[in-house]
Amino acid sequence: MILKIITSNQGKFIEYREALSSFSIDAEHVRIPYDEIQTSELSEVVEKGMAALKEKGLRDFIIDDSGMFVDALKGFPGVYSSYVQKTIGNAGILKLMENVNEREANFQCCIGCNVNGKDIIVTGKCDGVILKEEKGTDGFGYDPIFSHDGKISLAEMPIPEKNGISHRGNAVRLLMKELEDIIGNAKY
Ligand code: IMP
Repeated sequence: MILKIITSNQGKFIEYREALSSFSIDAEHVRIPYDEIQTSELSEVVEKGMAALKEKGLRDFIIDDSGMFVDALKGFPGVYSSYVQKTIGNAGILKLMENVNEREANFQCCIGCNVNGKDIIVTGKCDGVILKEEKGTDGFGYDPIFSHDGKISLAEMPIPEKNGISHRGNAVRLLMKELEDIIGNAKY
């Protein structure tokens, strides 16, 4: 089975390719822009995105909307994660978190998958903390400032390791459970 990964983010594609390979699913990188509505729910962005892509005739694909939610900032940047990364970036988040002791945060990844004429939407989560400084050079986005164990950042983890604990890896595992129900193991 081949699933099209619809994203402009090469980092996301590489993670999907690695995660799906464990389930013998091939990933094809497809860059097709679609409108991401501004709303308070990742799943709503994904639902609308899937509808727009199906309208363009696309089938058998994955899209993903992710966000980082910082407890001390009342869930910010959350659904604004993309805009905040492009504007104030990791340095800006670290500045907002200066002198903040409670550093808990979580990452969420909502996957929308269209397969065999059915839509599946799942959300994976990864709890962690915001580090005091950027660490590591791998990964993308907020990886250098987010740590699942308070020690190493996501940007210091090889992709299979990050997938083993990450919001995206957890979302893929939830997706695979649902796929089993729809098409059974034999098909992939
Ligand atoms: P989007 O899902 O592409 O809209 O992502 C929102 C923002 O979160 C973007 O700035 C991404 O770079 C960032 N982001 C999404 N997933 C991850 C991740 O796994 N690690 C670090 N940053 C991420």
